[in-house]
Amino acid sequence: MAIERTLIIVKPDGVQRGLVGQVIARFEARGLRIAGLKLMHISRELAEQHYAEHKHKPFYESTVKYITSSPVVVMVLEGPDAIAAARATLGATNPLNAQPGTIRADFGLNISRNIAHGSDKLETAEREIALYFKPEELLSYQRAGDVWLIE
Ligand code: CMP
Repeated sequence: MAIERTLIIVKPDGVQRGLVGQVIARFEARGLRIAGLKLMHISRELAEQHYAEHKHKPFYESTVKYITSSPVVVMVLEGPDAIAAARATLGATNPLNAQPGTIRADFGLNISRNIAHGSDKLETAEREIALYFKPEELLSYQRAGDVWLIE
């Protein structure tokens, strides 16, 4: 089990609907550790960088417009297989396909308003983390409970 870092964004719908605490609580309860956290308003330029791989998709423009429409909470989570663990906790991209018990199934109905984003693989996580955080904004530390999470 490799210790990984992943980028999570609580999107404008998550912030506007007052779900930030519940989203973070699920990741924390799972055992992932917060390495970095901030509230910010994503600029058009940053959104274009973030969603560059979707540039030619039909949903690109609306997705960029939406993610820049209101503040978001961005965080880096750290832990064993953090990328896959966080994605499982988020559920499928389309909330209608997500399993009950996941964030997207429990809080959402629409693929364009799917509450939170999570990096999909290691290279993406490294690229996305660098877009939102300076290295000195990320902290590695042990929590008292960490020894009770992994054998
Ligand atoms: P996210 O994980 O942030 O990555 C790309 C985003 O594009 C996705 O979540 C959705 O919010 C948004 N999106 C809108 N329509 C689609 C679609 N048809 N397929 C995939 N992503 C979509």
